[in-house]
Amino acid sequence: MYQQLIDQAVAHYRTLLESQIKRAENMNSAADEKKKEKTVIGLVGGDGIGPIITCQAQRALEALLKDEIAQGKIELKTIEGLTIENRMACGKAVPDDVLAQIKSCDVLLKGPTTTPSGGTMESANVTLRRELDLFANVRPVAVPEENIDWTFFRENTEGEYTLGSKGIEIPDLLTMDFKVTTIAGTKRIARAAFDFAKNNGKTHVAIVTKSNIMKKTDGMFSKICHEIAAEYPGIQADEYYIDIMTANLINPAIRSNFQVFLLPNLYGDILTDEAAQLQGGVGTAGSANTGSRYAMFEAIHGSAPRMIAEGLGDYANPESILRAAVMLLQHIALPEKAEKLSAAIEAAAKACPVTGTKEGHTCQEFGDALLAALK
Ligand code: IPM
Ligand code: MG
Repeated sequence: MYQQLIDQAVAHYRTLLESQIKRAENMNSAADEKKKEKTVIGLVGGDGIGPIITCQAQRALEALLKDEIAQGKIELKTIEGLTIENRMACGKAVPDDVLAQIKSCDVLLKGPTTTPSGGTMESANVTLRRELDLFANVRPVAVPEENIDWTFFRENTEGEYTLGSKGIEIPDLLTMDFKVTTIAGTKRIARAAFDFAKNNGKTHVAIVTKSNIMKKTDGMFSKICHEIAAEYPGIQADEYYIDIMTANLINPAIRSNFQVFLLPNLYGDILTDEAAQLQGGVGTAGSANTGSRYAMFEAIHGSAPRMIAEGLGDYANPESILRAAVMLLQHIALPEKAEKLSAAIEAAAKACPVTGTKEGHTCQEFGDALLAALK
C-alpha cells in the first residue's frame, strides 16, 4: 500500500546521503590567511525588531570607526532585502542577489530574521551558516557577581539543522527528520573550543551530548571530542548529558565551575538561551558565527513579531546586537574599540534601561545614551 511512498522516500534519502558525503569530503577548516587592505562590514537589518536594533548598532559603529572609514580601511555596507516579505516573494531563504551582496563582505552584523515554522522555507540563519560555512557559533555569557564566565562553542552547520527542512513524510501516518554528524565537522568545532580554552587560560571543557540515546551521531561527537581533548594536556574534558546540563546551569552550587562548553548544534541552541536568560535575558547576549573565510555576528534572540504586532517595536532592547558588535570588533582585531563599546553599553543600560515595554526607555534613547558614552 505504501510502496510508492517508500520508493520516493528511499530515492530522496539517497540524494541526501550523497549530498552529505560530498559535504563531509570537501569540508574546510583551515583559516583563510589572505591579508586584505580593506575590511567590508555588512549590516543586515533583518525582520521585525531587527532593523530597529541594528540601526543603533550602525550608529555606534559609524562613530567608533569614523577614522578607519575615512582612511578607507573599513567600509560599512548596508544590505537590504533580507526581509520575510522579500524572502517569501522570491521563495528563497536568502534571495540570490542578497546572498551575493553578503558574500562581497568580510564580516557581517545581522539582525534577527523570521523563520516560518512548518512548510519548507529554510531559516535564513541556517542558510547563511551553511552558505558562508560558519561552523563555530560562539556565545559568551557572564554573570560577574556570581562568578559565572561561560563560553559556548556550538557546532553550527550540522546535527538536526543540516537536513531540518528535508525530512520525509508519509501523509496521515508519520514524519522523519535526519541528524547528521561528520568527523571533519566535529573535529573543527572541537579544535575551536580547545584552542580557545588554551589561549584564554581555561582548564575545563564540558562536552555536552545525549550519546546514551543518539548513539551514532552524539556517540561519534563524543568520541572525536575526547580524541581532540587528548591533544590538550592542561585541559580537562568531561562529558555531560544535555538533560543534566540544563539542570546544572540553574544549580548555584556548581554552575560557576563551568568554563567552556562544546556541543552539537541543537543542544547548543537550547542551552545558550537558558544561559543567556541567567545573564539577564536573551536580549542581552551576542553571538558570533565564524568560519574560515567569513564571520557573522548577531543577536541571539528572534525578530519578536509579537512586539511589532503590539506596537512595541520602538521599545526593543538593542543590547544583544550591540554585544554582537563588540564581538565583531574583537574579531577584526580592534580590541580597544570593542572594550570602549562594551563599557558604553554598560553605561547606557544603567542610564536608559530598556524593558521591552512602554515603561522602559526606547531603543533610540538607548542609542542616544550609548553615543553620548562613546564621546
Ligand atoms: C539561534 C536561533 C536560530 C537557531 C533560529 C532563529 C533559526 O534560535 O541563533 O539560536 O535555531 O539557530
Ligand atoms: Mg536559538
